[in-house]
Amino acid sequence: MTAGTVTVRVLRSPAEPGGAAAYQAYAVETYPRMSVLDALFQIQREHDRTLAFRCSCRLGMCGTCAVVVNGREGLACQTLLERFDGGEVSVRPMNYLPVVKDLAVDMEPFFDRYRSVKPHFIPKESTAAPETLVITQAQGKRKWVDPALGCINCGICMSSCSVVGLNPAFPGPMALNRALTLVNDERDAARDERLALVTGEDAGGGVWACHQLFNCTAACPRHLSPTRAIRQLRQEYVGEQANPLVAPIKWVARKLSGR
Ligand code: SF4
Ligand code: FES
Repeated sequence: MTAGTVTVRVLRSPAEPGGAAAYQAYAVETYPRMSVLDALFQIQREHDRTLAFRCSCRLGMCGTCAVVVNGREGLACQTLLERFDGGEVSVRPMNYLPVVKDLAVDMEPFFDRYRSVKPHFIPKESTAAPETLVITQAQGKRKWVDPALGCINCGICMSSCSVVGLNPAFPGPMALNRALTLVNDERDAARDERLALVTGEDAGGGVWACHQLFNCTAACPRHLSPTRAIRQLRQEYVGEQANPLVAPIKWVARKLSGR
């Protein structure tokens, strides 16, 4: 991208309570490898100091700058303006999360879904220790966990997921991806409990409710595949049940009957 001007349209919160959010256009002076986050800073500096957005690391590591740019989720600091032809870029907050102001969203519902899968490691008695201790895992088991590690909790996968908006109890891609890492952790004591959580009715059908559209996988800035994690959780569950088809059949029957 050479120096020039691009129109950046930002969805702004209403000035008064009860009003409607509306796009506001700003002319941004561009330079090579300018990011959407750079553009937002320029708007804040030169056009409107009240523009609200979040960021921290500016390196794609903290996950706080997630927004929707031209209809696709992304990290503002890693999304370059030169990706978009046509001289106009729109920026809006992520889906399914309450807007605090402008592009800043309340992440609490995202973490509520995360908490629903018991996302913390629960050591088996044999591996629990009163002091900090490195607990290694067998290499063969570890290979199932590796591709699902590195999540930065940005919320992008949830915003891009078509099931989350329809199913309030569905844990969402990030939570299920986290569940997979623990289910495959031989040192964790809550494997069965967690598998029951992510496959049950209380989780809105959990892994059975996923449509396997790969939206989350396509959007994840860390190149994780929550879709693959969900598929693997299904296999883990089916591999352990005496009647493995009971849960998915019950879920499908409930959906077909409209309950
Ligand atoms: S899985 Fe990817 S998109 Fe989802 S929260 Fe983690 S890093 Fe973000
Ligand atoms: S500012 Fe940290 S990921 Fe963008």
